[in-house]
Amino acid sequence: MKFSTKAIHVGQIPDPGTGAIIPPIYMTSTYVQEAPDKHKGYDYTRAGNPNFTSLEQTLAVLEEGKYATVFSSGLGATTGLISNLQTGDMVIAGNDLYGGTFRLFDQIFQNFGVSLLNIDTLNLEEVENVLKQQPKMIFLESPTNPLLKISDLAAINKLAKKYKVLSVVDNTFATPYFQNPLNLGADLVLHSTTKYMGGHSDVIGGVVITNNKVLKEEMDFTRMAMGLNPSPFDTWLISRGLKTLSVRMDKHAQNALSVAGFLETHHRVRKVYYPGLSSHPQHTLAKKQMKGFGGIVSVEFDLGLEQIKKLISSFQVFSLAESLGGVESLVEHPASMTHASISKEKRERNGLSDGLVRFSVGIEDEDDLIEDLRIQLSLI
Ligand SMILES: Cc1ncc(COP(=O)(O)O)c(C=O)c1O
Repeated sequence: MKFSTKAIHVGQIPDPGTGAIIPPIYMTSTYVQEAPDKHKGYDYTRAGNPNFTSLEQTLAVLEEGKYATVFSSGLGATTGLISNLQTGDMVIAGNDLYGGTFRLFDQIFQNFGVSLLNIDTLNLEEVENVLKQQPKMIFLESPTNPLLKISDLAAINKLAKKYKVLSVVDNTFATPYFQNPLNLGADLVLHSTTKYMGGHSDVIGGVVITNNKVLKEEMDFTRMAMGLNPSPFDTWLISRGLKTLSVRMDKHAQNALSVAGFLETHHRVRKVYYPGLSSHPQHTLAKKQMKGFGGIVSVEFDLGLEQIKKLISSFQVFSLAESLGGVESLVEHPASMTHASISKEKRERNGLSDGLVRFSVGIEDEDDLIEDLRIQLSLI
């Protein structure tokens, strides 16, 4: 079976009781038992629910892995992962990381003695030098949020194996349709299913996928013990979203390439970040490890901060909002919105300037998106 067929059919068994083609939503907290501890596989929804199971089956197969554990959010999934570390453990990550992930380490787990070291994961020599210091985990985003940097996942995962360091890839931006990190040697793949998988900006969720049974058992235990479970309705919505993931991703990528190409030649633009452009510094690597380049485009405009704020508040089709990956196009200002939890000094050191704007290009008609950009840029 190929991707779209799997997305529609795996884990989506019609209801045997009624014939309903879509599995029902099991809005239940508990399950009746025949005798103490004699039940049909579920005893309490914090530990498991049929809607979690069906989504886990679909997600594992789409990511070309064996096991998945769904969580309350992308950050819930990251919390589940990090909670298995111990005081004194070090995690290494790239220096361009979703602001909320950075905040989770910096303001929560640091208090428990788990430290984060940000490095340049584009530099393999630097990666190897740090891996030699025996961190417990390397946490990679590729493409990164918001600068769309591409790390060489196969090379880094090979190094991580050599030094016996657990490798995790946040694959939220690419989705399993465009990139499969487990096939590139990662131990675990993480997603915010809030984004492209849900796809309609109406749900929050997360998942961790792996081929390793012990890690799967750890994730299930941590979710149950820490209360990191999603709601049955939210997992049902994500199962529904996944059925159209492939067609949406093709359109997101097609629109994003047009938007990036248009902006790249605009006189008000200094720089466009999109891995599908031949001007992107890791374009060749992106072509090698990805099947498509996704729907996020980041841009540095040749405008002052006030002009940028005015511009991004004035679009008619792009809505000014946090998040990404929904059918509707969004625009946001990372320095004051999604990445505000990182200090200005650290942001600027890592190339995230106050002038950077991030577009989540939706699946509207391409001409309407370009027209919105053209008109509003001409009015600045
Ligand atoms: C790359 C990436 N990873 C993780 C997250 C966190 O996901 P959630 O908002 O579902 O907790 C986000 C959210 O924006 C993200 O962009």
